[in-house]
Amino acid sequence: MKHNINNITVIGAGAMGSQIAMVAALAGFSTTVVDIEQVSLDRAKEQLWSRVDRDVEKGRRTAEAVQQAKELLQFSTDQDAAVANTDFVIEAAVENLAIKRDIFAQLDKTAPAQAILTTNSSNIMSSQIADATNRPDKVCNMHFFNPALVMQGVEVVPHEGTSQETRDITIAVTDAFGKDVIELKQEIPGFVANRLLGALRLEALKLYDAGVADFQDIDRAAKGALRHPMGPFELMDLVGIDVAYLVRMAEYEQTGDEASKPHPVLAAKYATGDYGRKTGKGWYDYSE
Ligand code: 3HC
Repeated sequence: MKHNINNITVIGAGAMGSQIAMVAALAGFSTTVVDIEQVSLDRAKEQLWSRVDRDVEKGRRTAEAVQQAKELLQFSTDQDAAVANTDFVIEAAVENLAIKRDIFAQLDKTAPAQAILTTNSSNIMSSQIADATNRPDKVCNMHFFNPALVMQGVEVVPHEGTSQETRDITIAVTDAFGKDVIELKQEIPGFVANRLLGALRLEALKLYDAGVADFQDIDRAAKGALRHPMGPFELMDLVGIDVAYLVRMAEYEQTGDEASKPHPVLAAKYATGDYGRKTGKGWYDYSE
């Protein structure tokens, strides 16, 4: 399907937002990443530049493609100005419903009327946000995986009121990003990939809790016996133990289903404040 998307805005320069913005720029879109903190933008730029420079050194991308992407990618603390001419927004701010609703209400006021507004959230469904705007038909989830520069899959999740045109354009943009579209026909908390992951993670936590094996050996089983690129504990450290816990908690709060409550071992780990790679320690120690 064709699309008329030229300008993309990404809200939030955290681990997900920054890499999503670079994915868009590498695909040739004029892209602006917005954050309220200049320091987050500076950090994002430094990390992204070193990532893509490394790709050139390793022969994974050409110097020309990377130079073009750097020129296409702008950094801004002024959301209203950044979205004035946008065609397509990908919101990747903090996982907080009230904050997301405020962002979408403001986007609705300042972005052109035809612009599509998507959220990268995995635990807040777009139906919970769409009515903060006057264009609920132009709102859906576009869910990337960590690290977004590497992971191929992107879930496109419409809510009941998302128009067919919005679905089609979001799928076309995902395709133009060079990603594999995972199309959901309807919303479900956790979507598809995180539900699959949640089942594996829960089993891993149960096995560890029961003393069947050390967490390192459970990771070895996933990698050495099932050929997963990372074990479930390593992956919790990559995604963030806080994220893993809060996603479960949000699902539990949405569904009331006792089975989706965070496992006590995960809750205890979350309570220590050791969230994984980002804090230097999680299941594994990254302080070296
Ligand atoms: N950002 C960007 N690129 C990265 C990266 C990162 N954080 N980490 C690794 N890479 C790329 C680099 O190109 C790296 O090569 P380089 O070191 O030569 O530059 C290349 O991947 C290989 O990396 P490593 O040698 O360090 O390690 P691996 O071969 O194990 O690859 C991995 C790392 C790609 C992260 C791989 O282990 C993997 O695919 N793990 C599973 C990730 C996963 O399951 N993600 C989904 C999480 S769930 C989620 O995101 C949902 C959300 O809602 C919470």
